[in-house]
Amino acid sequence: MSVGNTGLGQGKPNPFSPGFGKTPERLVGRDDLLSDIGEGLATGPRDERFASILMGVRGSGKTALLNEIEQRAAADGWVVISLDASSGGDLHEGDLLARLRSELSHIADRYPALDIEELRGEQQTGRSAGFKLGPLQGQRTETHNSAAMNLRQRLTYLSEAAQRYRTSVLLTVDELHTGQRDHLRRLANDLQHITSRAELPLAFIGAGLLEMQYTILQDKKMTFLQRSERYKLPELDYTDALAGLRHTINDAHGEITEPALRTAATAVNGSPYRLQVIGHRAWKLADAPNRIIDETAVEQAVDIARGVVKQKVNIPALYDITATERQYLSAVVQLGAYASKAEIGKTIKKSPSTTKEIHRRLFLSGYVTYRNETVGLTDLVPASVVRDEMLEPFDDPDGFGSSNDLSAVDAPQPLPLPLPICREWMPRAKARCVLNHGHQGACRSKKPGR
Ligand SMILES: Nc1ncnc2c1ncn2[C@@H]1O[C@H](COP(=O)(O)OP(=O)(O)OP(=O)(O)O)[C@@H](O)[C@H]1O
Ligand SMILES: [Mg+2]
Repeated sequence: MSVGNTGLGQGKPNPFSPGFGKTPERLVGRDDLLSDIGEGLATGPRDERFASILMGVRGSGKTALLNEIEQRAAADGWVVISLDASSGGDLHEGDLLARLRSELSHIADRYPALDIEELRGEQQTGRSAGFKLGPLQGQRTETHNSAAMNLRQRLTYLSEAAQRYRTSVLLTVDELHTGQRDHLRRLANDLQHITSRAELPLAFIGAGLLEMQYTILQDKKMTFLQRSERYKLPELDYTDALAGLRHTINDAHGEITEPALRTAATAVNGSPYRLQVIGHRAWKLADAPNRIIDETAVEQAVDIARGVVKQKVNIPALYDITATERQYLSAVVQLGAYASKAEIGKTIKKSPSTTKEIHRRLFLSGYVTYRNETVGLTDLVPASVVRDEMLEPFDDPDGFGSSNDLSAVDAPQPLPLPLPICREWMPRAKARCVLNHGHQGACRSKKPGR
């Protein structure tokens, strides 16, 4: 929550955090996961949970959970290194391995008590040691060139130092699904060596989208990741949503009526992101904490939240998948929102085996449900969004785009157009094509020259 007077007006700080990667004021519905992962970390390298992967759809709370684990580990005296596998579009930031090297070179400053001078920077570091040898007596300087240590040696060196001080290292990598395959393989190999073979206290927690189940977690050259414990982030249940909304509001000295709270918690429908957006808008619309949050404010907030979730979650998720996969979703909608695989296959003109493979990917990634041999859509890309984006010319039945309704108060920013990347699925490489849409020649999992 922001504090202090900004000088921009009278606004009171809003306790909700409707942005991705933000730590919520109240993290709800994650106690079981936290205690299970915590137990694994405390047990040590022999426990499978010492290397764990958090998976979930966009906005399911992976980063928030990762942050919480990091904070708890740091509070227990662990050395924490936190990384993001995506390049973030900043060329100067470097890739995952470069960022890990850079973090390691600063770690001696962050943990001076560990006595890990040899990791400092790329420069020659000196250490003086007194020695006595016969009549000679004097001072000798051992020099270590940290640049001469490769990444595995540096991680080993740090883990050994942590072990000496009876602590452990926690390496976290967010957005794991976006990582460059060869870098992830290299890192997985080093971790395998250090944690599994040498049993040094270097724990790993990765987080990313569910599609990892059929991409990097099926990569035979990453057995370390394959063997790690996998956690699928559960949806928040109604009680979690009630608690999350109520406590966040009350902790910030706000109030909400019971019927308004029940309406808001029902509308959360399992999504932590939606909880934050609804809470944020309701707080603002009601002018809390000056006024009590009532049903009118919540109903308007729920309407606005639908548009925000559409822009920030549903549409990006629709463009995360291939054109053929989008056609599959569109066929489900055309067939009345529920359909058999055979009917879908016929509609998209694909063979049963291709249809089955498309279905498998969409099912694993959380886009479709499959019950009683019937395919349905999930909340990740609901039928209304498929219809708006793929089946009908743009119209605005909910009025999210109009300027004279409430959405204007908190109008979602228009998203930049999705990057025109091919993203066609390559079954043998277990990867998606990274070339531009409409590229010449065969699909590739790596940009030429990388
Ligand atoms: N357990 C939770 N309780 C309450 N709010 C939560 C919880 N988990 C996450 N949030 C909130 O939900 C929003 C989305 O969370 P987060 O950014 O962690 O999702 P994510 O899964 O990492 O999304 P992405 O796939 O886009 O990276 C944030 O505003 C965060 O504060
Ligand atoms: Mg995240």
